[in-house]
Amino acid sequence: SMKEKMKVLIADDIAPSAVKLLQEACYEVDTNTYSPEELKKKLGHYHVLIVRSATKVRKDLIDAVEGSNLELIVRAGVGLDNIDVGYAKSKGIEVKNTPNSSIGSVAELVLGHMLSLSRNLHRSNVTLRKGSWPKKEYKGTELFNSTLGIIGYGRIGRAVGDKAKALGMKVQFYEIYDVQNADKDIKQVDMDMLLSTSDFITLHVPALPGKSPILGEAEFQKMKKGVYIINCARGGVLSEKALLKAIDDGIVAGAGLDVFEKEPPECKALLESERISLSPHIGANTFEAQERIGNELVEILLDLCERRHS
Ligand code: MLT
Repeated sequence: SMKEKMKVLIADDIAPSAVKLLQEACYEVDTNTYSPEELKKKLGHYHVLIVRSATKVRKDLIDAVEGSNLELIVRAGVGLDNIDVGYAKSKGIEVKNTPNSSIGSVAELVLGHMLSLSRNLHRSNVTLRKGSWPKKEYKGTELFNSTLGIIGYGRIGRAVGDKAKALGMKVQFYEIYDVQNADKDIKQVDMDMLLSTSDFITLHVPALPGKSPILGEAEFQKMKKGVYIINCARGGVLSEKALLKAIDDGIVAGAGLDVFEKEPPECKALLESERISLSPHIGANTFEAQERIGNELVEILLDLCERRHS
């Protein structure tokens, strides 16, 4: 049967519905958040490791399970920056993620931050509680007819573009890879063009360890005055220091941040800036996305079972 011998360790917190599906599909499913040292000792018993972002799968852990049962590591989510993918593969361990499940949820959060910034919702929530009524000061801008620049036109970037277009925004994107079947109204531009002509800029690129941020001081200098920046991708793809400077310099009017260089963020200037709309890394954190992640995990495991039997 499908259940044959498949032992799965879920090392991070995943949706109960997903755990249930996995229990129905697999022989042994353990949920346990071991310490890094314990995990090195226990992991070799399992065929599959499922993680989110908390568990770091680095060389030392991979070395510790070399030659053991472990065949597959699955990231229940998109970003693979907590896993040394190349090293795992070099040791014969497959690595997969669930890139399809959270697209819509992340895209909607991006819209949420854009609307919050353009209409001062994040500031209103603070100032009204303090007893002020800054109706005049909070004159906003419409998203309609504004230009959105998307950096990274993969699954999520594309979904953001489609939703933004539906709101009447002009959409352009920067992408280093070839783009197939882009919407005819959504144009590919070079980075300088994107930086200098966008009213909103949103990032949808992975974090590449060791790489410098895509938006650093030089890039902020090239932006249109009054631009809004959204980062629901990964901390580190934009420089927080350069962002704060660009806000001080009056280049950036506001930023919506779901991800941070350190999580939770410790930078006081960032936490205290009324120009920044904050959320605690909740892009994929919807009932729908988490349920879909569970389904995508089961599909990945069933596919592994099938390949083992053929
Ligand atoms: C992801 O890469 O899927 C997201 O950061 C979601 C998460 O793990 O919280």
